[in-house]
Amino acid sequence: MSIALEIKGLTASVGTVEILKGVDLDVPFGEVHALMGPNGSGKSTLCHVLTGKSDYEVGGSARLDGTELLGKEVDERAALGLMQAFQYPVEIPGVRLEEFMREVGVARGEDPGAFGEQIAAQAERFGVTDFLRRSINDDLSGGEKKRSEMFQMGVLSPKVAVLDEIDSGLDIDAVRQVAEAVEQLRSPDVGILVITHYSRILGHMAVDKVHVMMQGRIVDSGGAELADELEDGGYDAVRSRLGIEAPKKEAAAPSVRDTLTDLPF
Ligand SMILES: Nc1ncnc2c1ncn2[C@@H]1O[C@H](COP(=O)(O)OP(=O)(O)OP(=O)(O)O)[C@@H](O)[C@H]1O
Ligand SMILES: [Mg+2]
Repeated sequence: MSIALEIKGLTASVGTVEILKGVDLDVPFGEVHALMGPNGSGKSTLCHVLTGKSDYEVGGSARLDGTELLGKEVDERAALGLMQAFQYPVEIPGVRLEEFMREVGVARGEDPGAFGEQIAAQAERFGVTDFLRRSINDDLSGGEKKRSEMFQMGVLSPKVAVLDEIDSGLDIDAVRQVAEAVEQLRSPDVGILVITHYSRILGHMAVDKVHVMMQGRIVDSGGAELADELEDGGYDAVRSRLGIEAPKKEAAAPSVRDTLTDLPF
């Protein structure tokens, strides 16, 4: 079984703040893994570091199908087969989705006719045919945006797909549709990492592994039952099972009333 995404000892800091403190995570080809973790634990930072966002001082290793990603430019990583759907998909008014996809095809040296057919077929498959003529993500609902991103992945066939918070803000039906779209993306040629806060979406897909991130590290990995444990007992259940101390609450900030007492009114 070969590994699509192999992360070892990955660290990321901004100035003196260490956000990722040695992440180890493997996603084999053909598998769908879920990454869960409390707010601020470093999940989106992991995505940004994999894509090559330049804000971070990074260390360790992240390999895509055996090739080191760290140190490469954003477009080189994409060319190697890394694709991400972001927590907040960007809207690009004035650029039609179909036009954009065709341009990507040209940049990749694809045959325009065959690529056009592929766009139409995948649009049908992911139920986004109506969006092809519209600007990218402009005025699409949250669920529609996510479906549009899945469609782009369906056309471009990445080797590694990372989907940050694909179910946040979606209604119950849209969560199921997005989960089904992830299952449609599954193939022996791709490893998929799905970041989510809710076990609900995992009920609609056959997730192979669940990983839990806390304070910049993967602290536990297991099957879908791990997501159920989180649903029932929250992160405290996992913390107490693993003997991890809960993060200290920030000291209370001065109240607005205290701050305003010196003002002349
Ligand atoms: N560029 C940056 N500069 C300073 N701090 C940052 C930067 N990027 C991320 N952080 C901090 O790193 C921590 C992890 O953030 P991150 O967005 O990765 O969390 P997350 O696990 O995705 O949380 P959520 O579940 O809320 O999306 C947070 O405390 C965040 O404020
Ligand atoms: Mg996040």
